[in-house]
Amino acid sequence: MLHDSELSILFTALNIGGLTVPNRFVRSATHDFLAGEDGTVSPAQVALYRTLAEGEVGLIISGHAFVHPSGKAGPRQIAAHDDRFLPGLASLAEAAHRFPSRVFLQLAHAGRQTKEKLCGCRPLAPSAVPDPSSGVTPREMTGDEIRRTIDDFAAAGGRAARAGFDGLQLHMAHGYLLSGFLSPHTNRRRDEWGGPLENRVRAAADIIRGIKETAGSGFPVIAKLNATDLLPGGVTAEEAVEAARLLERAGLDGLEASGGMAEAGRGSMWPGIRPEEEEGYFVPFAERIKAAVRMPVIGLGGIRSVSVMARLVGEGRVDMISMSRPFVRQPGLVRGIREGRIQKTDCVSCNKCLNPRGLRCTALKP
Ligand SMILES: Cc1cc2nc3c(=O)[nH]c(=O)nc-3n(C[C@H](O)[C@H](O)[C@H](O)COP(=O)(O)O)c2cc1C
Repeated sequence: MLHDSELSILFTALNIGGLTVPNRFVRSATHDFLAGEDGTVSPAQVALYRTLAEGEVGLIISGHAFVHPSGKAGPRQIAAHDDRFLPGLASLAEAAHRFPSRVFLQLAHAGRQTKEKLCGCRPLAPSAVPDPSSGVTPREMTGDEIRRTIDDFAAAGGRAARAGFDGLQLHMAHGYLLSGFLSPHTNRRRDEWGGPLENRVRAAADIIRGIKETAGSGFPVIAKLNATDLLPGGVTAEEAVEAARLLERAGLDGLEASGGMAEAGRGSMWPGIRPEEEEGYFVPFAERIKAAVRMPVIGLGGIRSVSVMARLVGEGRVDMISMSRPFVRQPGLVRGIREGRIQKTDCVSCNKCLNPRGLRCTALKP
């Protein structure tokens, strides 16, 4: 049992790009398969976000929202590519704001990690590197297509601000398009979008600058960054640190360190419960990045014990604690921790919540 003084650090406010977040807990982006077929926000999603906010999550990050139909990754995914989705998006933001939570929209383009059936075209990527996990060989994007995609992200960012979101997270992880640009394995280009690291983060840096124009310079933009692809020839920890520095210079306000991609056969959701000392499997990457930047850095990856959370933040190793699967099992987790009722989440990381029929925990009886 932790002393109140050890726990209290998790319940101090934090500033992200000028925005005050009431505590150190982040609901990591979680695609819930609950939107309409076209990507319209559904009443089930509104209810889910209200429950998360009621449970006192400091910062709720939405499931990945696609910025263009060619970047749609999965069924019943939130759409952010057209103004007709504004009312639904606004209802999500409003649901989260019933309580003191802050809510960010996660913006994404699937890159090569989709299927023609979903995205309506041959999947796009920085280079035509086949993905053995899906059998997809993507089409290499032209320079014009890259510039248009940057504009799509910026336009979606403006839409998020108009819908009432408090900020944005750019999905630069898990093998999706911006992670594909970052990775030397999937980005073999020789033009200004490939080669040296500065070129491989150029699209993301341009998107950050574009969003600050469409949504306003004070609109917080954070990124979820692949600090490792878990693949030989992929992005290295050293490159991730340098990428974070470059993105901060472009205006980035915070960073969540993640890893993995479909082709690696190991994504971001490692199964099973590990001992306390192995919780936070991407935290070592976050710590290295934190030592090199001024913006807040978020730790992630199988964090389950309150003592680990308090230690990571208390020792200044990360600024915030991010979790996804535990909030499926226990949306009231943060409140339970604050009230001293929960020392460790019940989530067993079985991954059954990743359910195309709709996000829910089936591992344990309620
Ligand atoms: C059902 C489900 C959906 C997810 N959807 C997303 C997503 O939309 N965007 C994203 O960046 N990560 C997504 N993830 C990964 C999580 O955000 C998180 O990085 C990962 O599960 C590790 O955190 P955890 O151990 O606390 O679950 C998803 C994970 C799950 C379980």
